Amino acid sequence: MLEKDIERVLVSESEIDAICKRLGAQITKDYAGQKPLIVGLLKGCMPFMAELIKHIDLYCEIELMGVSSYHGGISSSADIRITKDLEITVKDRHILIAEDIVDTGKTLDVIVKLLYHRGAASVDVVTLLDKPAGRVLEFVPKYIGTVIPKEFVVGFGLDYDEMYRNLPYVGVLKPEVYKK
Ligand code: IMP
Repeated sequence: MLEKDIERVLVSESEIDAICKRLGAQITKDYAGQKPLIVGLLKGCMPFMAELIKHIDLYCEIELMGVSSYHGGISSSADIRITKDLEITVKDRHILIAEDIVDTGKTLDVIVKLLYHRGAASVDVVTLLDKPAGRVLEFVPKYIGTVIPKEFVVGFGLDYDEMYRNLPYVGVLKPEVYKK
């Protein structure tokens, strides 16, 4: 049903699986001896974060923050809203933000600064996808699943107008879907 709206698969289920294993092993190594706080940015982080944390072999805590930058369209807005804030203090914590995609870099610029402002000891980012051609701010995520071209993608957490998050892979949406 959803598949008919997809032009092509960009990152398959098995590729996502391999990415999560690779990133989880790297994070386990880099944070050895620490108890990081993994902060997922809702809603896009959900499937990626759920898969990734299975491969992180550390004592770590999980928290969620609701952040919205797209308001129904296919391009980021400068208006970044926190729709659900953290419920714990981040002071002196080593934070790893889990994100679905970095595009313009605006969302993470705001959130990283906010967490440092609240006293975090370190703030780094793990993202499933990086779309560097979309950047308007200089922002380099520490952990990147895979780099994608400047195309609008959906699936594995990523939405168009709140739909397609439940696709098990990342695909390019047919332009006629959002031109309707
Ligand atoms: P940024 O602030 O422009 O880096 O945007 C980050 C947010 O924009 C992500 O968390 C996504 O929710 C959304 N986003 C960016 N590119 C795409 C895309 O290709 N498909 C769906 N959502 C996207």
